[in-house]
Parts: sequence; structure tokens; C-alpha cells
Amino acid sequence: MFARSGGLGRDNSMRRTTIVNDETEIHEVYDEDGCVRYESFVNFFFYPYGIRDFVFKRMRIEDNDRVLDAGCGFGVLSRAVHHSVERRALSGVEQSAFDISPDMLSAFRKMRLDGIDLRQSDVIDLPYSDASFDLIVTSAMLEHVPEIEGALASLKRCLKPGGKMYVFMSRKTRVNDFLFRPFGDPKCYSLEELTDILASAGFKNTRRRRFPLSSFWLNIWGYVVEAS
Ligand SMILES: C[S@@+](CC[C@H](N)C(=O)[O-])C[C@H]1O[C@@H](n2cnc3c(N)ncnc32)[C@H](O)[C@@H]1O
Repeated sequence: MFARSGGLGRDNSMRRTTIVNDETEIHEVYDEDGCVRYESFVNFFFYPYGIRDFVFKRMRIEDNDRVLDAGCGFGVLSRAVHHSVERRALSGVEQSAFDISPDMLSAFRKMRLDGIDLRQSDVIDLPYSDASFDLIVTSAMLEHVPEIEGALASLKRCLKPGGKMYVFMSRKTRVNDFLFRPFGDPKCYSLEELTDILASAGFKNTRRRRFPLSSFWLNIWGYVVEAS
């Protein structure tokens, strides 16, 4: 698995070269049917509720922040950020999101969240300028990337000095291995592994964060690292 990954190129021409195993490209895993299956799967575990709970209670978002959701899928994190901005009556916050899979982006658009700059892109080759974002959030995407070091370096390039990134990562457990096999057989990392990779990608400060008590079961699924 994870045989190779190619970028989409800055011209955004679709070269479908991210392979998750010998036959299946990630776009095929998250095609129209895959999106529906994924959405039902995460709803079953109240994952959108837990993500929203974390964003509302643990994530610092400020006026005029530029926020990027990396590997946004159908938009669980983007929606939580959007609602948090509304609820806190923040002003001037600009949201962007990208994903490599066109069908995931179509599912995202169905949510009709106004004002989010949505793009199709490979994390390895992002169409954003250096130091564009105050806050980058990413959930359950890095597990699919063949070169996680390159992906994190690419995200770091887009983060402003002093900006923050929140990584939501599935734990490396047999149960997760089994549950996620139909979803591209992702490669999960331990907290120690992820912390080391973040350091080699240039992140100087990392801090483990937990889901609040009101969404405690997501601490069994995964963990959150805040990095800057
Ligand atoms: C498990 S889903 C997570 C989606 C969303 N972040 C969430 O939390 O529900 C993984 C997502 O990562 C995307 N993805 C995988 N490899 C990617 C890459 N190289 N660049 C951008 N997105 C990628 C997939 O298309 C898919 O939408």
C-alpha cells in the first residue's frame, strides 16, 4: 500500500496519482458511494458532534483569522469552525478548505456553507502562498498520505509565523485498523511518532489536547495535537 503519490500541480490539472494500494486511488475510495459510506460511518460514532465539541470548547479562533481545513472531506471541521465563528460573533474570519477527492468536495458543497474558499488539491502541492493562514486544522487526512513528512512541511509553509495547527489523528490500534480498512487502509501514527514528524517538519511547539468530557469517546478513537 501507499505505493506512490504525485501532486496535482499548481495549474490544478488533475493527475490522479495518489495510490493507496496496488489498485485503488484515494479518489476511488472516496467516490460518491465512498462518501455516503464514510458519512454514515462517522455519524454512527457521533464524530461530527465530537469535533464540534472540541472546536467550540478547545480551539482558539480570533477575529480576522484565516483558517484552512486540510483534507476537508465533506466538511466536518469546516462546519464546526463556521458555527463556532458565528456563535462567538467573530468578525473578519476567512475560511478555506481543500481535498484531493472531487466527490468529497461535491458532498461538502451540499452543506451550503457560505464564503468558504474550497479547492481541489493534493496536500503535497498546495495552491496557497507562503504564510497564508493563522490556523490550520486537519482530521483523519494525514493517515492517507504516502509521505506524511512532505505533507506536514507543505502545511507548515502555508502557516503564518506564530500560527497554529490542530492535527486530529486516529490512534494506532487494531480496532482502528479493522474499522478503517474499507476507507483506504490508512496508516495511523502514535503520538510519539507524530510528535517527531512534526518536529522534523519544522514545528517547534507541540502539545497534546484531549476531547472534552462531553465527547470523551473520541479520545478512544484518536488524539489531537496542537502545533506551532
Ligand atoms: C477519512 S477522510 C477525512 C475527511 C475529513 N477531514 C473528516 O474529518 O471527516 C480523509 C480525507 O482525506 C482526503 N485526502 C487523502 N489524501 C489526500 C491528499 N494527498 N491531499 C488532500 N486530501 C487528501 C480524502 O480525499 C478524504 O476526503
